[in-house]
Amino acid sequence: MSGDMSGDVTTDASTDASTDASTDASTDAPGSAAAPGDAGAPVPSIVVDGVSKRFTLRHARSIREMTIRALRRQRLSETFDALDGVSLTLHRGETVALMGLNGSGKSTLLKLMSGVMSPDAGSVRVRGRIAGLIDVGAGLHPDLTGRENVYLNAAILGMSEAETRRKFDAIVEFSGVERFLDNEVRFYSSGMFMRLAFSIAAHTEPDIFLIDEVLAVGDPPFREKCLERIRELRGEGRTMVIVAHDIPMLTRLCDRGVTLRQGRIVFDGDPAEAGRLWLEDRRARQTADRPGKS
Ligand SMILES: Nc1ncnc2c1ncn2[C@@H]1O[C@H](COP(=O)(O)OP(=O)(O)O)[C@@H](O)[C@H]1O
Ligand SMILES: [Mg+2]
Repeated sequence: MSGDMSGDVTTDASTDASTDASTDASTDAPGSAAAPGDAGAPVPSIVVDGVSKRFTLRHARSIREMTIRALRRQRLSETFDALDGVSLTLHRGETVALMGLNGSGKSTLLKLMSGVMSPDAGSVRVRGRIAGLIDVGAGLHPDLTGRENVYLNAAILGMSEAETRRKFDAIVEFSGVERFLDNEVRFYSSGMFMRLAFSIAAHTEPDIFLIDEVLAVGDPPFREKCLERIRELRGEGRTMVIVAHDIPMLTRLCDRGVTLRQGRIVFDGDPAEAGRLWLEDRRARQTADRPGKS
């Protein structure tokens, strides 16, 4: 998923957006260099404040199932807190690894940051242009060709047509899919799909780049290229949030690690320590899942 947000964007749990105090939007244009006076001081890029997100899990999909469950006095649905009171401030130029077991709420948090979902409680404030590679699909349209997707997706990410035309060759070259550029992307392998999506997003010069598990899809040489590009973006002072399963890679790449456990932040600091906690959770889950152990 992807989206462009110009200036400050607040996604708030309350329906009355006017109550939110995000009125400093106009003072800081998207993509602008550090405003005068803030040299050295960390500039907030994403502010997540007391955010909760609740999903309803439906157990009955048909009227028949509903009737059976009702007769048995079983619940038809239950609610589930994917995020529970999460607060987190990310600063401009930080590269943050988001870690946690499957189901701990990482993708939900990235979706709230990118604005494709809004929180049930709390608020998310984002400053600058945001590009997200969240979930496979990553904003590409299956019925369009690779070429058409470059223009469409770049536009969604906030690039003008002239800008896209200028960067087109670089995007295509980086992706390595030039031979298939005029084929519909539905025929692409998941690796090709991801290469193109990553390449477009990485060339839109986002202020904030959210990367959810896509690095695992590409082949090793392309993955290296992606990491190289991430390091470049990092060097340019972009804010990055990365979800991946490779702890050594995350530790090398990131300057901050945040570990989620069942929708709550349990650690925020040294990436190596964040990774250690996550490994601990993984071992505990594996032990719990092992057959024969009661
Ligand atoms: N749209 C949805 N509807 C219902 N439950 C959801 C939805 N999206 C996520 N969840 C649930 O919320 C929890 C957190 O999911 P997610 O944020 O995808 O975790 P992670 O990315 O860490 O694996 C999971 O238990 C998942 O099943
Ligand atoms: Mg996920």
